[in-house]
Amino acid sequence: MNVCEYKPGLEGIPAAQSSISYVDGKQGILEYRGIRIEELAVKSTFLETAYLLIWGELPNKEELETFENEIRYHRRIKYRIRDMMKCFPETGHPMDALQASAAALGLFYSKRALDNPAYIREAAVRLLAKIPTMVAAFQLMRKGNDAVKPNDELDYAANFLYMLNEREPDPLAARIFDICLTLHAEHTINASTFSAMVTASTLTDPYAVVASAVGTLAGPLHGGANEEVITMLEEIGSVENVRPYLDRCFEEKSKIMGFGHRVYKVKDPRATILQELAEQLFEKFGRDQYYDIAIEMERVVEERLGEKGIYANVDFYSGLVYRKLGIPTDLFTPVFAIARVAGWLAHWKEQLGENRIFRPTQIYRGRRDASYTPIKERM
Ligand code: ACO
Repeated sequence: MNVCEYKPGLEGIPAAQSSISYVDGKQGILEYRGIRIEELAVKSTFLETAYLLIWGELPNKEELETFENEIRYHRRIKYRIRDMMKCFPETGHPMDALQASAAALGLFYSKRALDNPAYIREAAVRLLAKIPTMVAAFQLMRKGNDAVKPNDELDYAANFLYMLNEREPDPLAARIFDICLTLHAEHTINASTFSAMVTASTLTDPYAVVASAVGTLAGPLHGGANEEVITMLEEIGSVENVRPYLDRCFEEKSKIMGFGHRVYKVKDPRATILQELAEQLFEKFGRDQYYDIAIEMERVVEERLGEKGIYANVDFYSGLVYRKLGIPTDLFTPVFAIARVAGWLAHWKEQLGENRIFRPTQIYRGRRDASYTPIKERM
């Protein structure tokens, strides 16, 4: 067996063979099943993209209609899940609520049949359909309100905004939200996807797979960064404060949220698309100082850190867009999860196709042959 060099964070170590998505970090290219993200953002919808990711091909008209109808049918959640969520503390983070609720689905749909394509499809449909409902339900219930039932007249993105805000969204807002979901749907083997794959490799149920990925996505170095971007923009407060704020960060060598990426060494292509969407939203619904602060920040960070390959990532503009769509800051990461469930499911399905349980090795650095000291003799 080859002895490999230890790479912290497994940087650059292939953990699987995959045909789901492709990233070229030097050129800023992202493709889902070979199709460029820029093209999918403009021409596709989130559900069509989810179908493409999970089943490998774009659906024909009939297949897409059937899939959309299945999702519509399964959007409701059982009253017991709603009641369980009502008992969650309102001060708890919505990602923790989502992780617990996603795991709870396994209690209700426990008949696991991983070699049955019908089961795979039903589980994928249930997760895609119910996760937005659970996120919106927690948001309303933590404020003491009743959850809003899904509206069968509305498509996937519009329905989520409707359940969240208790009114039908503006069509531009709904379309932009749908594009945001497409942009966040998949991104090769990042931390949460890897976590999903490791869990999937034990042949557990898909609800446990998604719950483990949700827990991984919650961290500030991964999905949680867009929340921190907004906190940072609020702290900066004005365009004039951008440079002094960043000078302090450069001096203290602290990480600037929303910048840098393990793979991209140029601007993240999703950040470019999101910036355009932010422009459209601010044009229609009014500009505020945060957008100007963001533009100035990007200019200064690029000037200082561009040569190190540190540019805006997907999280830098997504927070601004979500804020303008009326989504509360602590729901940004759950919204990321709504989208990424498509990618997690695609990797779950791919993992099942050629499964071998993950079991990496380690380089042991601890003591050997140590003796047991009785407690009375310990210092
Ligand atoms: N601000 C300032 N400096 C940075 C930043 C940043 N955001 N990101 C990386 N660097 C610097 C590091 O200080 C380091 O400098 P050094 O070589 O002089 O020591 C160098 O760039 C390499 O940084 P690492 O942390 O080793 O890069 P890694 O690939 O491990 O990390 C990560 C990538 C975690 C995304 C990092 O860039 C970061 O923490 N960014 C801020 C958080 C963030 O925006 N996360 C969202 C990522 S996108 C997503 O998950 C959807």
